[in-house]
Amino acid sequence: MAPNGKPVITFVGAGYVGLPWAAIFANWGYQVYALDVDEKKIERINKGEAPFEEPGLTEMIAKVVKEKKLIATTDYAEAIPKSNIVFICVGTPSNAKGEADMGYVFSAAEKIAQNLGQPFTVIVDRSTVPPGTVHKVRDYITKARKDPQKEFAVVSSPEFLRQGHAIEDTLHPSRIIIGSDDPRAIALLTEIHGALDCPKVVMSAESAEIVKYAANAYLAMRIVFADQMSNLAEAVGADIKEVIAGTSLDPRIGDHFWYPGLGYGGYCFPKDVKALASSYQANLNEPNLFSILDELNEARIERICQLAERQLNGLTGHKIVIWGLSAKPQSPDMRGSTPANLIKALADRGAIIHAYDPYAWEEASGMLKGMVQLHRDHMASLPDSDGLFILTEHQEFKNLDYRIVKDQMRGKLLFDAKRVLDRDQMRKIGFDYWGIGDGKGNKL
Ligand SMILES: NC(=O)c1ccc[n+]([C@@H]2O[C@H](COP(=O)([O-])OP(=O)(O)OC[C@H]3O[C@@H](n4cnc5c(N)ncnc54)[C@H](O)[C@@H]3O)[C@@H](O)[C@H]2O)c1
Repeated sequence: MAPNGKPVITFVGAGYVGLPWAAIFANWGYQVYALDVDEKKIERINKGEAPFEEPGLTEMIAKVVKEKKLIATTDYAEAIPKSNIVFICVGTPSNAKGEADMGYVFSAAEKIAQNLGQPFTVIVDRSTVPPGTVHKVRDYITKARKDPQKEFAVVSSPEFLRQGHAIEDTLHPSRIIIGSDDPRAIALLTEIHGALDCPKVVMSAESAEIVKYAANAYLAMRIVFADQMSNLAEAVGADIKEVIAGTSLDPRIGDHFWYPGLGYGGYCFPKDVKALASSYQANLNEPNLFSILDELNEARIERICQLAERQLNGLTGHKIVIWGLSAKPQSPDMRGSTPANLIKALADRGAIIHAYDPYAWEEASGMLKGMVQLHRDHMASLPDSDGLFILTEHQEFKNLDYRIVKDQMRGKLLFDAKRVLDRDQMRKIGFDYWGIGDGKGNKL
């Protein structure tokens, strides 16, 4: 324990999940270590800066680093021996088979084990991992532990924050899940999360691991559901906006999380649905909803591409301008960006792609190198274009004068993948308006 009687906490993995939590616990007066293998990240944190965009994070880091409540390090031997609680927050990307790649988690577990220094340490798995991982982490630690007198418990406590809202979501979570049967670990985790006004739900570690996959797969399913309803609306001359307005009034369904568009993307949903499908297959070896979700979602980009081909009478040599590249609105994060997937598919078919994004220029210039000409100014992207595709609902795109936009273009196709614009207004201006799920006079 620290001199103030509070447990010392380390976050292994100072990314989108680990770092906001580290900053918040430090701000609450805990002695916190943020441990990462990325030296540049650690250097920036120790200078009092956030190494990535997240509202409110830099201010909080600047404060707690100055107070020495948050210390960033690459050295396990500096942080782990003093820590009573260690959160594992490293990445769990998909491997080639679609399973969660557990290499980072197991490597972190091994190094934690070699450096245990307290009589009892709680090791918390906050990364998203397949059911059964708690036992594997426990085995790694038991084998790699240098001193068998150092006791430990492994707990599953999955994370639900949204990127772009990390501080807000961490301070106001919907719930804290504590997956453990160890009374000392449960007491310690309940205590440190005590300031949060939300249910703290204690359950088995296996259930906790499934909760995270269940939440992400359910939300991904709503997106695929909305996409399929959009297809039907387009085919029969209905409008998905009207369908959602009518359907969502049912209180059992609600008006949240209806997002027809390019399918689900981002860092978590695609890899987590694939990992769930793999885990289901490995445990039950029978047909399952999650494999089908993944297949339908993967097919989404191809379908949009075919529709674009039809709208423009072929894609070869046509200049398409893409506005909006990031995976989420008002964010620079390109991980799992569905616009990037669509760009690859369009470019493969011979389209010439120009693009603009107000947030993700740096990230996109690396990821889409050689595939697209990026512009710093949205108007500069338009001359000689045959079509304008708006793919991310950045606020900026809602408030432009589209008469000027239209004047700059050669063609008049306007694809609105997120339904941010008014169909009738756009038609009045002279666009061939193609809105996702909009079958009104827009036969595809
Ligand atoms: N990003 C989200 O919105 C979000 C939300 C909920 C859950 N999750 C889950 O949380 C986990 C972490 O996600 P993230 O977005 O924070 O990832 P991230 O890539 O932003 O951060 C992971 C960090 O771990 C570091 N790292 C890797 N191996 C390490 C090791 N052995 N020791 C120390 N550091 C190591 C990396 O350098 C990186 O900085 C994933 O399992 C993810 O699925 C993410």
